[in-house]
Amino acid sequence: MSSAVPTVTLTPDHAGLSRAAEFLTDGALVAFPTETVYGLGADARNDTAVARIFEAKGRPRFNPLIVHLPNMDVARTIADFPELAERLADAFWPGPLTLVVPLRPDSGLSPLVTAGNDTVALRVPEHPVAHDLLTTFAGPVAAPSANPSGKVSPTRAEHVLEGLTGRIEAVVDGGACGVGVESTIIGFDGGPTLLRPGGLPTEVIEECIGQPLAARGENAGINAPGQLTSHYAPGAPVRLNATAPDVDEVWLGFGPDCKDAALNLSPTGDLVEAAANLFHHLRAIDALANTGQVIAIAPVPEHGLGRAINDRLRRAAAPRS
Ligand code: TXA
Ligand code: MG
Repeated sequence: MSSAVPTVTLTPDHAGLSRAAEFLTDGALVAFPTETVYGLGADARNDTAVARIFEAKGRPRFNPLIVHLPNMDVARTIADFPELAERLADAFWPGPLTLVVPLRPDSGLSPLVTAGNDTVALRVPEHPVAHDLLTTFAGPVAAPSANPSGKVSPTRAEHVLEGLTGRIEAVVDGGACGVGVESTIIGFDGGPTLLRPGGLPTEVIEECIGQPLAARGENAGINAPGQLTSHYAPGAPVRLNATAPDVDEVWLGFGPDCKDAALNLSPTGDLVEAAANLFHHLRAIDALANTGQVIAIAPVPEHGLGRAINDRLRRAAAPRS
């Protein structure tokens, strides 16, 4: 765990939002109100900033995050919209609705945001403070709910401070959230599917698209993204806890002892740096491995962000189906 940072409370006026946008530009973490719950925001293009979200929340897994945007024009630069997604965005954005849509290859998002998926969860919030912050920052903001992992979602700035003081740089105090439950999440892989019930009732969504929503699990393609054992595994076989490479192995190191590693997740043994590099390095080491070679991965300590890193590495090493 990194050392404590001072957490400032910002006002939702021009001065406060300019400061909040500066924090985001500098890779800092800023909690802000939306109409559903407070989000814990970071620049979605900044690997280190996104890694720090997982550290601050103490999340044991890199589950994908929702990307918050000021409007549909910016959304189109990040993802492609199937026809029904387009219709729902048109009807319910800004609002408590999240759409999981195909990621554009030129999106510029950190792969940590999507947990390596080729889809991304997008939302245009309606709350005026969220909207003004996103407009001032003028970039995509990744934000899960602003609570420590396993705790209830915060609907007031005080709740955010109770859970995350010393772990985030700022919270914008916009008072109480109106909706109080998270956004409804809809996916489109294999037909429109309810991935999470939330602030926007399913009835109005079904009426808008003129068909019933499938339940999560009915469409094989989107069942529990990131939870499939061998999801986004490298092409080459993977061996974990490798303190040295065997012949016919390429070595992905962690820490100062891995001098001969082809790539190192963090030469200094910094877990935030390792998390920020994780998806990039897995891809790069897979490209380095010749046919028949195995990827050997150095041990990563099982504490703090190391737990989420090891969860991901175990999936990469799991037998392929
Ligand atoms: O109201 C909300 O949605 C709040 C505010 C802050 O916007 N955010 C929120 O984020 O609840 P979070 O991280 O707590 O929940 C994100 C959910 C997760 O359950 C995740 O699995 C799903 O969104 N998700 C994100 N990206 C996805 C993807 N590519 N495919 C499927 N599900 C995805
Ligand atoms: Mg949450």
